[in-house]
Amino acid sequence: MSKPKVVYFCQNCGAQSLKWIGKCPSCGEWNTYVEEVVTKDKKKIPSANISIENLKELTSIQSFEKERVVTKDEELNRVLGGGIVPGSLILFGGEPGIGKSTLMLQTALLNNLKILYVSGEESEQQILLRAKRIGMNNPKCYVLNETVIQNISPYIEQLKPDLIIIDSIQTLTSNILESAPGSVSQVRECASELMKIAKQSNIPIFIVGHITKDGSLAGPKVLEHMVDTVLQFEGDQHYLYRILRTTKNRFGSTNEIGIYEMLGSGLRQVNNPSEILINKRTESIAGVAIATILEGNRPLMIETQALVTTSAYATAQRSATGFDLRRLSMLLAVLEKKYGLKLYQKDVFVNIAGGLKVEDPATDLALAAAITSSNYDIAIHQKTCFCAEIGLTGEIRPVNKIEQRISEAEKLGFDRIFISHNNLKSVWERNFNIKIIGVHKLEEVFTKIFNS
Ligand code: TYD
Ligand code: MG
Repeated sequence: MSKPKVVYFCQNCGAQSLKWIGKCPSCGEWNTYVEEVVTKDKKKIPSANISIENLKELTSIQSFEKERVVTKDEELNRVLGGGIVPGSLILFGGEPGIGKSTLMLQTALLNNLKILYVSGEESEQQILLRAKRIGMNNPKCYVLNETVIQNISPYIEQLKPDLIIIDSIQTLTSNILESAPGSVSQVRECASELMKIAKQSNIPIFIVGHITKDGSLAGPKVLEHMVDTVLQFEGDQHYLYRILRTTKNRFGSTNEIGIYEMLGSGLRQVNNPSEILINKRTESIAGVAIATILEGNRPLMIETQALVTTSAYATAQRSATGFDLRRLSMLLAVLEKKYGLKLYQKDVFVNIAGGLKVEDPATDLALAAAITSSNYDIAIHQKTCFCAEIGLTGEIRPVNKIEQRISEAEKLGFDRIFISHNNLKSVWERNFNIKIIGVHKLEEVFTKIFNS
């Protein structure tokens, strides 16, 4: 077999060169050249069989919707849109140490499927140790320590597994390229090789990929374009909870999330997340308010906490964990201007309990209530929760899927919920036992919570 021809391309302007160069002479950018194979072995390319009879009517194509592999992990099924689609290529990204290998090994061991677990990161012994820790066993789980993609495909052909797991794409190499494992060209070449395997054999493949510091998948964005589904495993290493999300899914919605808890014996599926995200206290404490948010299609009750203290410095500090700092500044400005809270000489710290990061604007009202509560040092009753956005004019704005959120609050034993008066119209109040209070302005909320 003749050696494939390799050329270097500038990723910015597309200029090519026979050698790698640091600065592109065409567009002037630095470090944009990547290695690419331009011709593979010509003899191997089959001549295409072009005939009009090959065209299929859309309606005559068989659907594989029913053939999804439904795993025993409900959270994973939900995120994937109801199970693993045969022949799909799933990219599973996350920061190092977040638990990707653990979740993959659990998927391999929990289900009664024939699995090929290809690991370039850990030795067989290490995988065995982890499997023992997880405490599950699957006699049909095969482990392969191999990093060259061309050596992996014969195993797949012979074993014919039901599912392949590659841990991780950054350790794979293709022997037609000379660049180091993990480089842009290697990652891309190996992923396209895996894609071919998945589509030809109809075996689903999970590819584990590390995420770089800035949150993007290491390797080029092209990887995300190539695969069918992109899963992300998120969470703070210091907290127990991990969230599984999809950012792309050709076979389902990208709204669903899965929640896991990291235990000493692996990851546990969390079927009722609200119960663990809210601290159970015997008495109410100032600076705490509960919000009803929506993560994907799942309503969650979360605890927002605020601490407002007199500032020792000329410029007051503002700090937010799990919440957007700019949004916090906006809330503080609204509280100051529209409600008259004197916050400019106060330090304000806010925190979303449990290590969650929330983006749902429905958190606004709870956070404003928590800040006000901490400022006055008056506790909000434990059984009260909030669910509304706050506008710049201080108006309480409606949020979507309000009924789902109210039922979650009711299910968890809350006895009153503050929502926007605009939302009230779309709520069939008789369906609920919880007291639903529709409000227009901040004052209305605060008069009700602090004077009763
Ligand atoms: P790991 O799956 O190796 O992360 P990744 O593959 O994403 O780099 O998980 C590593 C962390 O998980 C490690 O810090 C230890 C912790 N862990 C547990 O807490 N319990 C367990 O049962 C296992 C297997 C790991
Ligand atoms: Mg790992």
